[in-house]
Amino acid sequence: MVEKSLVLVGLMGAGKTTVGRRLAAALELPFADADQEIEAAAGCSISEFFERHGEEEFRNGERRVIARLLDGPVCVLSTGGGAFMDPETRQKIKETGISIWLRAELDLLMERVSRRPTRPLLKQDDPRKVMERLMNERYPVYAEADIIVDTGEGPHEAVVAKIIQALKER
Ligand code: S3P
Repeated sequence: MVEKSLVLVGLMGAGKTTVGRRLAAALELPFADADQEIEAAAGCSISEFFERHGEEEFRNGERRVIARLLDGPVCVLSTGGGAFMDPETRQKIKETGISIWLRAELDLLMERVSRRPTRPLLKQDDPRKVMERLMNERYPVYAEADIIVDTGEGPHEAVVAKIIQALKER
């Protein structure tokens, strides 16, 4: 059923890593998480990477890591929230993968990200305002994804089931 890598995109807190892992298990595909690959390659956390090298260097590393993973065997790939905003990465995903946007509402995203203070972009006085700005900037671009799935309060399994259904209907 799956001939191309499945690439999960969406904002921080949308559930890309958790859903990606479960989707991969359900489809018996390998799973990769771009942020974790960057951390492994850099030998430090994303936060430390931002502090030491800045966002631009992070984006360069992210672009390289995602291209490498997409050139490998078919897999489920969870990307960081900014990855699909990069025109080169977006093009690469369009050519070699099937993009899946996990769309979520602001309240849900904020509730999820508040559980773990690991996101450098949200280490601000008003993270909700930042998230709102990112939604405005990014949602029109995420909308270019091949598949769009709404995620709500329900279990991640329900999101996985919706993705599999959408893949079957393609
Ligand atoms: C980012 C999202 C993060 C991580 C980095 C930047 C973004 O990944 O890549 O902090 O620009 O939205 P998650 O979406 O997995 O939190």
